[in-house]
Amino acid sequence: MQKQKEIVLMFDSIARSYDLVNRILSFGIDKKWRKEAIKESFSFIDKEKIKILDVACGTGDMIKNWIKFSNTFNKKIEVKGLDPSREMLSIAKEKLPDIEFIQGFATEIPFENETYDIISISFGIRNVLETQKAIDEFFRILTPKGILLILEFTKTDKKNRLRNCVDFYTEKFSPVIGGILSKNKNAYKYLPNSIQNFYTKDELCDMMENSGFEIKKVKNFNFGQVSMLIAQKL
Ligand SMILES: C[S@@+](CC[C@H](N)C(=O)[O-])C[C@H]1O[C@@H](n2cnc3c(N)ncnc32)[C@H](O)[C@@H]1O
Repeated sequence: MQKQKEIVLMFDSIARSYDLVNRILSFGIDKKWRKEAIKESFSFIDKEKIKILDVACGTGDMIKNWIKFSNTFNKKIEVKGLDPSREMLSIAKEKLPDIEFIQGFATEIPFENETYDIISISFGIRNVLETQKAIDEFFRILTPKGILLILEFTKTDKKNRLRNCVDFYTEKFSPVIGGILSKNKNAYKYLPNSIQNFYTKDELCDMMENSGFEIKKVKNFNFGQVSMLIAQKL
Protein backbone atom coordinates (compact mmCIF):
# COMPACT_ATOMS: atom_id res chain seq x y z
CA MET A 1 0.00 0.00 0.00
CA GLN A 2 2.91 2.33 0.78
CA LYS A 3 4.30 2.01 -2.76
CA GLN A 4 0.83 2.61 -4.24
CA LYS A 5 0.47 5.74 -2.10
CA GLU A 6 3.87 6.98 -3.31
CA ILE A 7 2.76 6.57 -6.94
CA VAL A 8 -0.34 8.65 -6.26
CA LEU A 9 1.71 11.33 -4.47
CA MET A 10 3.99 11.46 -7.51
CA PHE A 11 0.96 12.20 -9.71
CA ASP A 12 -0.16 14.84 -7.21
CA SER A 13 3.23 16.52 -7.60
CA ILE A 14 3.18 16.66 -11.43
CA ALA A 15 -0.54 17.39 -11.88
CA ARG A 16 -0.14 21.10 -12.81
CA SER A 17 2.30 20.39 -15.65
CA TYR A 18 0.88 16.97 -16.65
CA ASP A 19 -1.17 18.07 -19.68
CA LEU A 20 1.57 20.25 -21.16
CA VAL A 21 4.27 17.59 -20.74
CA ASN A 22 1.97 14.93 -22.17
CA ARG A 23 1.22 16.97 -25.30
CA ILE A 24 4.90 17.71 -25.88
CA LEU A 25 6.19 14.18 -25.25
CA SER A 26 3.47 12.44 -27.27
CA PHE A 27 3.26 15.09 -30.08
CA GLY A 28 -0.52 14.72 -29.60
CA ILE A 29 -0.47 11.32 -31.32
CA ASP A 30 -2.46 9.76 -28.46
CA LYS A 31 -5.58 11.58 -29.73
CA LYS A 32 -5.72 9.23 -32.71
CA TRP A 33 -5.40 6.13 -30.48
CA ARG A 34 -8.09 7.39 -28.13
CA LYS A 35 -10.48 8.07 -31.00
CA GLU A 36 -10.01 4.59 -32.45
CA ALA A 37 -10.39 2.96 -29.02
CA ILE A 38 -13.63 4.86 -28.39
CA LYS A 39 -15.05 4.02 -31.80
CA GLU A 40 -14.28 0.31 -31.30
CA SER A 41 -15.77 0.27 -27.79
CA PHE A 42 -18.99 1.91 -28.96
CA SER A 43 -19.35 -0.74 -31.68
CA PHE A 44 -20.05 -3.41 -29.01
CA ILE A 45 -22.78 -1.53 -27.12
CA ASP A 46 -26.27 -1.13 -28.48
CA LYS A 47 -28.04 1.03 -25.88
CA GLU A 48 -29.87 4.32 -26.04
CA LYS A 49 -27.73 5.80 -23.26
CA ILE A 50 -24.31 4.40 -22.42
CA LYS A 51 -22.94 4.70 -18.88
CA ILE A 52 -19.16 5.08 -18.86
CA LEU A 53 -16.70 5.11 -15.97
CA ASP A 54 -13.20 6.34 -16.79
CA VAL A 55 -10.86 4.86 -14.17
CA ALA A 56 -7.48 6.52 -13.46
CA CYS A 57 -9.01 9.50 -15.27
CA GLY A 58 -6.19 11.85 -14.22
CA THR A 59 -6.75 15.34 -15.59
CA GLY A 60 -9.73 14.17 -17.64
CA ASP A 61 -8.20 13.70 -21.11
CA MET A 62 -10.04 10.48 -21.90
CA ILE A 63 -13.33 11.93 -20.64
CA LYS A 64 -12.91 14.92 -22.97
CA ASN A 65 -12.47 12.43 -25.80
CA TRP A 66 -15.52 10.37 -24.75
CA ILE A 67 -17.60 13.55 -24.85
CA LYS A 68 -16.18 14.71 -28.19
CA PHE A 69 -16.50 11.38 -29.98
CA SER A 70 -19.91 10.52 -28.56
CA ASN A 71 -21.07 13.48 -30.65
CA THR A 72 -19.06 12.32 -33.68
CA PHE A 73 -20.48 8.78 -33.46
CA ASN A 74 -23.94 9.91 -32.45
CA LYS A 75 -24.07 8.18 -29.05
CA LYS A 76 -25.72 9.40 -25.87
CA ILE A 77 -23.44 8.96 -22.88
CA GLU A 78 -23.19 9.62 -19.18
CA VAL A 79 -19.56 9.64 -18.08
CA LYS A 80 -17.86 9.87 -14.67
CA GLY A 81 -14.20 9.79 -13.66
CA LEU A 82 -12.39 8.03 -10.82
CA ASP A 83 -8.80 8.62 -9.67
CA PRO A 84 -6.99 8.51 -6.32
CA SER A 85 -4.94 11.68 -6.96
CA ARG A 86 -6.61 14.74 -5.48
CA GLU A 87 -4.44 17.12 -7.55
CA MET A 88 -5.06 15.36 -10.88
CA LEU A 89 -8.80 15.45 -10.09
CA SER A 90 -8.67 19.12 -9.23
CA ILE A 91 -7.29 19.93 -12.73
CA ALA A 92 -9.91 17.62 -14.27
CA LYS A 93 -12.66 19.48 -12.43
CA GLU A 94 -11.33 22.85 -13.66
CA LYS A 95 -11.42 21.57 -17.24
CA LEU A 96 -14.74 19.72 -16.99
CA PRO A 97 -16.86 21.41 -14.29
CA ASP A 98 -20.05 19.54 -15.26
CA ILE A 99 -18.55 16.08 -14.85
CA GLU A 100 -18.65 14.12 -11.58
CA PHE A 101 -15.25 12.93 -10.36
CA ILE A 102 -14.76 10.46 -7.55
CA GLN A 103 -11.55 10.05 -5.58
CA GLY A 104 -10.74 6.36 -5.30
CA PHE A 105 -8.59 3.40 -6.32
CA ALA A 106 -9.20 1.02 -9.22
CA THR A 107 -9.14 -1.89 -6.77
CA GLU A 108 -12.03 -0.55 -4.64
CA ILE A 109 -14.54 1.24 -6.80
CA PRO A 110 -17.38 2.70 -4.74
CA PHE A 111 -20.22 1.52 -7.00
CA GLU A 112 -22.74 -1.32 -6.95
CA ASN A 113 -22.39 -4.41 -9.14
CA GLU A 114 -23.36 -4.08 -12.83
CA THR A 115 -23.65 -0.27 -12.93
CA TYR A 116 -21.57 0.69 -16.00
CA ASP A 117 -21.70 -0.31 -19.68
CA ILE A 118 -18.10 0.72 -20.42
CA ILE A 119 -15.07 1.05 -18.19
CA SER A 120 -12.06 2.74 -19.74
CA ILE A 121 -8.59 3.01 -18.28
CA SER A 122 -6.06 4.84 -20.42
CA PHE A 123 -2.40 4.89 -19.41
CA GLY A 124 -3.61 4.09 -15.90
CA ILE A 125 -3.51 0.33 -15.27
CA ARG A 126 0.32 0.36 -15.28
CA ASN A 127 0.15 2.39 -12.08
CA VAL A 128 -2.19 -0.01 -10.30
CA LEU A 129 0.00 -2.42 -8.37
CA GLU A 130 -2.72 -5.04 -7.83
CA THR A 131 -3.57 -5.46 -11.50
CA GLN A 132 -5.66 -8.63 -11.30
CA LYS A 133 -7.66 -7.28 -8.35
CA ALA A 134 -8.49 -4.15 -10.39
CA ILE A 135 -9.57 -6.18 -13.43
CA ASP A 136 -11.82 -8.30 -11.18
CA GLU A 137 -13.28 -5.07 -9.84
CA PHE A 138 -13.98 -3.81 -13.39
CA PHE A 139 -15.78 -7.08 -14.10
CA ARG A 140 -17.94 -6.62 -11.02
CA ILE A 141 -18.98 -3.07 -11.93
CA LEU A 142 -19.77 -3.77 -15.60
CA THR A 143 -23.24 -4.71 -16.81
CA PRO A 144 -23.56 -8.08 -18.64
CA LYS A 145 -21.98 -7.65 -22.13
CA GLY A 146 -20.27 -4.52 -20.80
CA ILE A 147 -16.94 -3.45 -22.29
CA LEU A 148 -13.54 -2.97 -20.68
CA LEU A 149 -11.18 -0.76 -22.68
CA ILE A 150 -7.51 -0.66 -21.74
CA LEU A 151 -5.03 1.65 -23.49
CA GLU A 152 -1.56 1.20 -22.11
CA PHE A 153 2.18 1.11 -22.66
CA THR A 154 3.06 -2.58 -22.63
CA LYS A 155 6.28 -4.53 -22.44
CA THR A 156 7.41 -6.50 -25.45
CA ASP A 157 9.60 -9.57 -25.72
CA LYS A 158 9.81 -9.18 -29.52
CA LYS A 159 11.90 -6.07 -30.11
CA ASN A 160 12.51 -4.66 -33.59
CA ARG A 161 14.42 -1.63 -34.80
CA LEU A 162 11.43 0.73 -34.77
CA ARG A 163 10.33 -0.39 -31.32
CA ASN A 164 13.94 0.11 -30.15
CA CYS A 165 13.77 3.69 -31.47
CA VAL A 166 10.52 4.57 -29.65
CA ASP A 167 11.82 2.90 -26.48
CA PHE A 168 15.05 4.91 -26.79
CA TYR A 169 13.02 8.13 -27.03
CA THR A 170 10.94 7.15 -23.97
CA GLU A 171 13.93 6.03 -21.91
CA LYS A 172 16.35 8.84 -22.77
CA PHE A 173 14.31 11.90 -23.74
CA SER A 174 11.17 11.67 -21.60
CA PRO A 175 13.02 12.00 -18.26
CA VAL A 176 14.96 15.02 -19.55
CA ILE A 177 12.09 16.91 -21.23
CA GLY A 178 9.48 15.85 -18.66
CA GLY A 179 11.94 16.56 -15.84
CA ILE A 180 12.63 20.11 -17.03
CA LEU A 181 8.98 21.00 -17.66
CA SER A 182 7.58 19.42 -14.48
CA LYS A 183 10.67 20.10 -12.32
CA ASN A 184 10.38 16.47 -11.24
CA LYS A 185 12.87 14.29 -13.11
CA ASN A 186 12.15 11.23 -10.97
CA ALA A 187 8.51 11.23 -12.00
CA TYR A 188 9.52 11.05 -15.65
CA LYS A 189 12.15 8.38 -14.95
CA TYR A 190 9.24 6.38 -13.56
CA LEU A 191 7.58 6.20 -17.02
CA PRO A 192 10.19 3.99 -18.79
CA ASN A 193 10.83 2.00 -15.60
CA SER A 194 7.15 1.29 -15.12
CA ILE A 195 6.84 0.03 -18.72
CA GLN A 196 9.77 -2.33 -18.18
CA ASN A 197 8.23 -3.61 -14.96
CA PHE A 198 4.78 -3.99 -16.50
CA TYR A 199 3.13 -6.82 -18.45
CA THR A 200 3.04 -7.74 -22.13
CA LYS A 201 -0.32 -7.39 -23.86
CA ASP A 202 -0.69 -11.20 -23.84
CA GLU A 203 -0.23 -11.30 -20.08
CA LEU A 204 -2.86 -8.58 -19.68
CA CYS A 205 -5.24 -10.54 -21.92
CA ASP A 206 -4.71 -13.62 -19.72
CA MET A 207 -5.64 -11.59 -16.66
CA MET A 208 -8.79 -10.30 -18.33
CA GLU A 209 -9.76 -13.86 -19.23
CA ASN A 210 -9.06 -14.95 -15.65
CA SER A 211 -11.66 -12.43 -14.49
CA GLY A 212 -14.23 -13.78 -16.96
CA PHE A 213 -13.83 -11.40 -19.90
CA GLU A 214 -13.78 -12.41 -23.55
CA ILE A 215 -11.12 -10.61 -25.57
CA LYS A 216 -12.73 -8.81 -28.50
CA LYS A 217 -10.00 -6.67 -30.02
CA VAL A 218 -6.25 -6.22 -29.57
CA LYS A 219 -4.27 -3.63 -31.48
CA ASN A 220 -0.78 -2.16 -31.26
CA PHE A 221 0.14 1.47 -31.72
CA ASN A 222 3.53 3.15 -31.84
CA PHE A 223 5.35 0.06 -33.12
CA GLY A 224 4.01 -2.11 -30.31
CA GLN A 225 4.78 0.28 -27.45
CA VAL A 226 1.10 1.01 -26.81
CA SER A 227 -1.69 -1.58 -26.77
CA MET A 228 -5.43 -1.19 -27.12
CA LEU A 229 -7.28 -4.10 -25.49
CA ILE A 230 -11.05 -4.42 -25.65
CA ALA A 231 -12.80 -7.17 -23.71
CA GLN A 232 -16.45 -8.01 -23.04
CA LYS A 233 -18.03 -9.27 -19.84
CA LEU A 234 -19.64 -12.62 -20.62
C1 LIG B 1 -0.60 8.62 -16.64
S1 LIG B 1 -2.02 9.14 -15.75
C2 LIG B 1 -3.28 8.82 -16.94
C3 LIG B 1 -4.38 9.82 -16.90
C4 LIG B 1 -5.44 9.71 -17.97
N1 LIG B 1 -6.17 8.48 -17.93
C5 LIG B 1 -4.91 9.93 -19.37
O1 LIG B 1 -5.20 9.12 -20.25
O2 LIG B 1 -4.18 10.92 -19.58
C6 LIG B 1 -2.20 7.82 -14.61
C7 LIG B 1 -3.25 8.05 -13.53
O3 LIG B 1 -3.39 6.83 -12.78
C8 LIG B 1 -3.77 7.20 -11.47
N2 LIG B 1 -3.56 6.07 -10.56
C9 LIG B 1 -2.43 5.71 -9.91
N3 LIG B 1 -2.66 4.64 -9.13
C10 LIG B 1 -3.97 4.30 -9.30
C11 LIG B 1 -4.82 3.30 -8.74
N4 LIG B 1 -4.34 2.39 -7.88
N5 LIG B 1 -6.11 3.26 -9.12
C12 LIG B 1 -6.60 4.16 -10.02
N6 LIG B 1 -5.83 5.14 -10.56
C13 LIG B 1 -4.53 5.20 -10.21
C14 LIG B 1 -2.90 8.41 -11.18
O4 LIG B 1 -3.36 9.17 -10.10
C15 LIG B 1 -2.92 9.14 -12.52
O5 LIG B 1 -3.90 10.14 -12.54
